[in-house]
Amino acid sequence: MAVDLNNYVASIPDYPEKGIIFRDLSPLMADGEAYRQATDRIVQFAKDKNVDMIVGPEARGFIVGCPVAYELGVGFAPARKKGKLPRETVSAQYSLEYGVSELFLHKDAVKPGQRVLVTDDLLATGGTIGATIDLVEQLGGTVVGCAFLIELKDLKGRSKLKGYDVLTLMEY
Ligand code: PRP
Ligand code: ADE
Repeated sequence: MAVDLNNYVASIPDYPEKGIIFRDLSPLMADGEAYRQATDRIVQFAKDKNVDMIVGPEARGFIVGCPVAYELGVGFAPARKKGKLPRETVSAQYSLEYGVSELFLHKDAVKPGQRVLVTDDLLATGGTIGATIDLVEQLGGTVVGCAFLIELKDLKGRSKLKGYDVLTLMEY
């Protein structure tokens, strides 16, 4: 039976700053059945897209993307923050709901022409996923889908994803 994934999200007011409601997905990830059902829904979304590779941003994009990659039988490449990747990288800057940052991807993580699914736990302003898409496209990859567990509607991240196929499992 399908579980209501919303029951596995903890909402914490004023974290990490006053005015932010932090949507904590650790209860979902701590529950085997909820985590499996969330993963399966993303796998279904990706199934007919001929995905070659999944790319997810540090840190929570790994938790969403890796089980999907395992299930699809494709690889996963981490987009990481400064100073974490040891070989040649491409980079992209972005702004967040609470800060500014930069993401990096190994230059050989995606081959030109590969079909890439990008994953993250949550779509807020869209800065993080926008930078992740930028990295994939700098390397000649084609982003065939973007999958998230949560979308924060008020922050309008979807407006940065026009022309991309977007799946979100919960909306706040
Ligand atoms: C959070 C979240 C998304 C991003 C969404 O990550 O996991 O990656 O913010 O916000 P945006 O749509 O406004 O870019 P965070 O930067 O806090 O990093 P973390 O996963 O390493 O904690
Ligand atoms: N990342 C950006 N905004 C967030 C929020 N409100 N809750 C959890 N993660 C976030």
